Amino acid sequence: MMADDYTIPQGWDRYTDEEHRTWDTLYERQVKLLPGKAEQSFIDGLKALDLGRGGIPNFETMSDELESLTGWRVVAVPGLVPDEVFFDHLANRRFPAGNFIRRADQLDYLQEPDVFHDVFGHVPMLTNPVFADYMQAYGKGGLRSLDSGCLKNLAALYWYTVEFGLIQTDDGLRIYGAGIVSSASESVFSLKDPSPHRLHFDLERVMRTDYRIDDFQQTYFVIDSYEDLFHATVDTDFGPIYERLQGVDEKYPVDTILNEEEVIHRGTQDYANKGGRLAQAESRN
Ligand code: PHE
Ligand code: CO
Repeated sequence: MMADDYTIPQGWDRYTDEEHRTWDTLYERQVKLLPGKAEQSFIDGLKALDLGRGGIPNFETMSDELESLTGWRVVAVPGLVPDEVFFDHLANRRFPAGNFIRRADQLDYLQEPDVFHDVFGHVPMLTNPVFADYMQAYGKGGLRSLDSGCLKNLAALYWYTVEFGLIQTDDGLRIYGAGIVSSASESVFSLKDPSPHRLHFDLERVMRTDYRIDDFQQTYFVIDSYEDLFHATVDTDFGPIYERLQGVDEKYPVDTILNEEEVIHRGTQDYANKGGRLAQAESRN
């Protein structure tokens, strides 16, 4: 059954027609929404892997294609896995993806990453060679950090880049974070809504920032390029950062703007101030 590395067979033959239809519904909705919002690598990755061929992708077929592009494979896991298992997969260019799909009545929101989030959200970006290298480096960095006591800081880096990252392009701000591209409402909110702050990415600042897992982000961090992200993280020895962070328990609250920081958009924080979760009033009309 489950191996030491938490992988399981995807069990592609066991998906029901309804489950495949759930994928198709989510896929079609996002694909309509994302042009002009998602960064081009993401759009190109979707096409290169033909993730819209219909139904939940077969991990084996998809991995053969992905491996030929950047050497990554996708492996099935039952859900979230322990940190060291997760890091070890990434360090070996394996992306662990949940094999289950959300129920048809949970299309808009669920807390646990399912196959739609993991595959649609994450896998296209793994076709970008620089981003693919960043993901592996993150895994290796994670393994090295296990005893540092700074896992939460490393998790914040993942959160504000891999999951909720924005990128500046010649055509304007675009999305590359998997948590955003896999969400209909946040794809719009993260880019267009006046509420959240949009701040220039700074490694140590991001690592010291709290984050929320239950609602839209109150702050998004913007990178200039995947190369910049790669160099800012890979060329930096995190050892001294972890030492500096040892003493500091408090994180920057999610709506902080520091004095010296490069602000791309100062958010109104209206959405959060109204209590979030689709800001009550708006969702009723
Ligand atoms: N450079 C980091 C370290 O010294 C490793 C790392 C790379 C972490 C990329 C995250 C992302 O540990
Ligand atoms: Co994710």
